[in-house]
Amino acid sequence: MIFSILSQILILLLQPNWLQMEYQVTIKETLSRVLRIDSSSAKEAVDRVWELYRNEEVVLDYSDLSFCDVFADVTKEKITPYYRSASRDFTLLHGDTFELLPQFDFHFDMIFADPPYFLSNDGISVQAGKIVSVNKGEWDRGGTPEEINEFNKRWISLCRDKLKEDGTIWISGTYHNIFSVANSLTELGFKILNVVTWAKTNPPPNISCRYFTYSTEFIIWARKSAKRPHHFNYELMKRLNDDKQMTDVWRLPAIAPWEKSCGKHPTQKPLALLTRIILASTNKNAWILDPFAGSSTTGIAANLIGRRFLGIEREQEFIEISRKRREEINNFKVYGNYRSKIKDIARSEIYEPNCFVCEEEAFVDLPF
Ligand SMILES: C[S@@+](CC[C@H](N)C(=O)[O-])C[C@H]1O[C@@H](n2cnc3c(N)ncnc32)[C@H](O)[C@@H]1O
Repeated sequence: MIFSILSQILILLLQPNWLQMEYQVTIKETLSRVLRIDSSSAKEAVDRVWELYRNEEVVLDYSDLSFCDVFADVTKEKITPYYRSASRDFTLLHGDTFELLPQFDFHFDMIFADPPYFLSNDGISVQAGKIVSVNKGEWDRGGTPEEINEFNKRWISLCRDKLKEDGTIWISGTYHNIFSVANSLTELGFKILNVVTWAKTNPPPNISCRYFTYSTEFIIWARKSAKRPHHFNYELMKRLNDDKQMTDVWRLPAIAPWEKSCGKHPTQKPLALLTRIILASTNKNAWILDPFAGSSTTGIAANLIGRRFLGIEREQEFIEISRKRREEINNFKVYGNYRSKIKDIARSEIYEPNCFVCEEEAFVDLPF
């Protein structure tokens, strides 16, 4: 059967049954046929359309059928947060970012992403004087260069849809993934603003003695649109740098033991790093998304300086650490203690006392 396609596929949820749901898939081609598909999730329905396409039971114009376009129309499944703080400034979704992001409509002021770096290659390193495996988990195991490129392009494209027109995205990485990330950003129309080098002041030694000690990570900062100006707290960054322009090399220590009070995440970022990122590119009350939340360092830093956070994490163990970390700062003493340990917070408040107190009237909430 050969049909010419006039437009995109539209998928509508008909009636949710227990476990099994029925989706009505309308293909807007010359014959305007309607397919009925049984599936237990929106993703399964989309996969089934792809299968029909591959089996040539329907013939579609590939360019009309980008995965995101199809998925973006499947919005009827209700999202239930795994956790939400009482003040609604910290929400966690438990699941796959590729499935969850297309299921809701919301635009964030800023996105920080610390995606898999794909460096779990069975190598070894040294931690606290002990030889340890560099493997972080199955989620970090590398694929072919093509697979890594495709992975980065897919999630960055989904994030782009969730960013305000004047919003910015920060993405961290090492040489393993950062070039692929930069290419994807450029291909998707972002404008790269800076590549910050995080120079670790206390890196672990290189035990092979065959390379220089690895002591840096990179964080690309990009804005969504080449034309729309982005937000940069230039004056604040300058003040935090003893009244000299802040450069793109940030000397900050690796994570400290006090940051692991709720459990260990193998690639947890330091709060000082995330605080600086958020301070540089957002104002109070801003909404921040982290699609690979891990232990939610982004969310904790955001809440310590009056910003709001949505995090998505797939692993139960890590989302539980995230929840505990947020509950922990409900204790005013802990909250104050953490703030006092992060130099940029203490120094910002010297210049502008109470600069991180939220204004409730500015509150715009998530759609779930
Ligand atoms: C590099 S870690 C992030 C660490 C985080 N920045 C922190 O400070 O704790 C990446 C995280 O993404 C999660 N992850 C990987 N693929 C995912 C996916 N498709 N959906 C949701 N989470 C995912 C992993 O479980 C891991 O916790």
